[in-house]
Amino acid sequence: MKDTTLLPPPEDELPHLWQKPTYEVLLARLKKLRVEPPVWNLHVSRTQILKEQAVTAHDRREIVSFLSTIIKSGLPWLDSDDEREMVWEEASKRMSERCGRTAMGEITRRWPFENHGDGDFSLAIREPPLTGDSLGLKTWGSSYALARLLHEFTTGPLAHLFLPGALAAPQEVLELGSGTGLLGLAAACVWKTSVVLTDLPVIVPNLAHNASLNQEVVDGRGGKVEVAALTWGGGKDDIDPMFWELNRYELIIVADPLYDDDHPALLATAIDEQLALNPDARVLVMVPQRDETTKGLLGNLREELARQPSPLLCMNENIVEGQDDWGDEHDDDEMQAVGFWWGVFGRGRSVLN
Ligand SMILES: C[S@@+](CC[C@H](N)C(=O)[O-])C[C@H]1O[C@@H](n2cnc3c(N)ncnc32)[C@H](O)[C@@H]1O
Repeated sequence: MKDTTLLPPPEDELPHLWQKPTYEVLLARLKKLRVEPPVWNLHVSRTQILKEQAVTAHDRREIVSFLSTIIKSGLPWLDSDDEREMVWEEASKRMSERCGRTAMGEITRRWPFENHGDGDFSLAIREPPLTGDSLGLKTWGSSYALARLLHEFTTGPLAHLFLPGALAAPQEVLELGSGTGLLGLAAACVWKTSVVLTDLPVIVPNLAHNASLNQEVVDGRGGKVEVAALTWGGGKDDIDPMFWELNRYELIIVADPLYDDDHPALLATAIDEQLALNPDARVLVMVPQRDETTKGLLGNLREELARQPSPLLCMNENIVEGQDDWGDEHDDDEMQAVGFWWGVFGRGRSVLN
């Protein structure tokens, strides 16, 4: 009779260490347990996606117990220290992927853009562990909500900037407070234009990483992206020299920029400094209507924009429904339906008054 203990376990089973599984079997199983970057869209929560992607027959406790057994074992039957190190390292990675989001080290999520009128594509966005108040290391709901609407603006409120051959067609779009870069990267893909992604200097390295991660898809769709530091209200050290020449951009985009009392004034000044002075120039802003505080901050932003030397007034606006995960980041079910307000501002007369 065949000694079944020497055979590798079936594909979907975890090997028992008493069976002394070979290096190849251990490594193959560990790689299979990798938690793939979940795809989050408006209809599926991250929890649900993670569940769907979980390795089929095994529940989480069984996997965690398997991983911890490997980490604790001396793996004496393996051939070399290099093999042991490799197995321990893989097991530790799988373990940390199963810890809370903050302990995860980092995650990369793939964001699908489907049925938006010009062929499907997706963007991979890395989110490092959340530290302190670095909100720019996470991708917020409104950047995806606005990114999915971008194609509609070229025939709507921004149509005059996208007419073929129009003198004012935006050669370059500026994004403020890009965070992880989802909106700006999507703009480069959808609008097939050059987009400069900006944020605080501390956020820029991850932003640059995400720009290079998606370079192929951006290039393939006729776009271009650049990344640079631009701190609203910052000194020269916090603002890349490329922004020292003012009023250059025909179009500025911003998603979810307001969470401190001083943000409306700082952002309004940064917009006024960077936006071209001609009457065709536009700013597209999205602000989630989470609560009275965010509504108040948006009111303040409107006032601050109108107070600029060349006043910026809201010309079009609307609210779209979407999902926001501002709450406890450890609990996906905290995702809440909110109205995402968007507005288009220009240096003209308001049609609302
Ligand atoms: C809530 S996050 C939104 C990020 C991104 N737009 C999104 O929707 O995923 C706000 C962003 O504004 C940036 N920010 C805050 N204060 C800033 C300032 N003074 N200058 C530049 N960026 C700032 C943060 O670093 C962060 O990336």
